[in-house]
Amino acid sequence: MKALTWIPATPADAVPLAALFRQAEAITPVGLDQRAENVRTRLAGLGPDLTRHTRVGLDGEGTVAAYAEVANMGVADGVLRIRLTAVAHPELGGDVRAELHRWLVDRAEQLRRAGGTAQAAMLGTRCAENDPAGCRLLTENGFTLVRHERDLVLAVPELPPAVGLPASLALEPVDERHQELARLAHNETYAQSPSALRPDQRTWPQHAIAHPQFLPDLSCLLLAQGGRDENPVAAFLFALADDDADEPTAILHCLGTRPSWRRRGLATAMILRALHRARSSGFRRLRLQVSDTNKPALALYQRIGFTESGRGYAVLMRQLGGPTAE
Ligand SMILES: CC(C)(COP(=O)(O)OP(=O)(O)OC[C@H]1O[C@@H](n2cnc3c(N)ncnc32)[C@H](O)[C@@H]1OP(=O)(O)O)[C@@H](O)C(=O)NCCC(=O)NCCS
Repeated sequence: MKALTWIPATPADAVPLAALFRQAEAITPVGLDQRAENVRTRLAGLGPDLTRHTRVGLDGEGTVAAYAEVANMGVADGVLRIRLTAVAHPELGGDVRAELHRWLVDRAEQLRRAGGTAQAAMLGTRCAENDPAGCRLLTENGFTLVRHERDLVLAVPELPPAVGLPASLALEPVDERHQELARLAHNETYAQSPSALRPDQRTWPQHAIAHPQFLPDLSCLLLAQGGRDENPVAAFLFALADDDADEPTAILHCLGTRPSWRRRGLATAMILRALHRARSSGFRRLRLQVSDTNKPALALYQRIGFTESGRGYAVLMRQLGGPTAE
């Protein structure tokens, strides 16, 4: 294999990076963006300094053949979360992947130290289930498997089942009016999920209504009537269009019911409503990702009829620095 030339990414690399991501996804899927527009959004999300956060490998012809990215996902419970992404053209050898990995861990360490030498960091990365060499590289470098993300799909039926909602709840669109209440409900719902992001006010819009693929017609909030609760948002569903799919597909991107409202059919009602809306908007399929450790959600989706697409991946993590590190 010829040596690659390494340069930082620029927004202009979005098109060749999307092409590289598509090639990699066809063989070892880990849910990478496959459209240039989405890659551009991803690069913009890394902050203004792409020199510190990205690395693009060019082959002898100047074609983008490898990519590495270290992303600061914010501090949760005192621990800095850092997402590592390494993508190599399927024909490149293991030495390129090892080199990408070394660079990523080195950059992550710099990011951690920027928060002070005592700052603890948790590195997270993905590995395709059919990529034993990639997973081995990670485990040999101190990463441990924390979960599998299942990719589930459901064909939109000709006649979706009827939707029933408890009378005490009102269905509302997801818009500016309930932004903060929806954020608080979201963060309460995911409080027990160690891997879930709990967005602050600044990053929340990007999670839902300001997301470039947001689908307002399929998304909804369920609001409790009668004011027995400080926050009336009992449940929420945010849907996105799947730009990378080969047939019109909507993604159930974020779904939750606040603990005091669970097991009353709210999540089921929101998904069935999304199925109706998907049908009238021309979508042929619903898709979502769920961790294999999330038994309630798996039971919910299986009951509705979702099945595995085969595009799931493993999530691995490694602690860096901090008081409890070796
Ligand atoms: C998963 C979640 C959305 C379910 O919401 P919900 O409104 O309680 O779901 P429903 O009442 O519609 O449940 C429908 C069915 O799903 C299954 N189910 C839901 N929660 C379950 C649980 N804790 N244990 C076992 N099965 C469960 C049951 O079959 C249930 O029917 P039943 O109550 O008649 O037995 C909710 O637990 C939640 O918000 N969890 C945290 C956030 C999360 O994990 N979101 C999904 C991310 S992919």
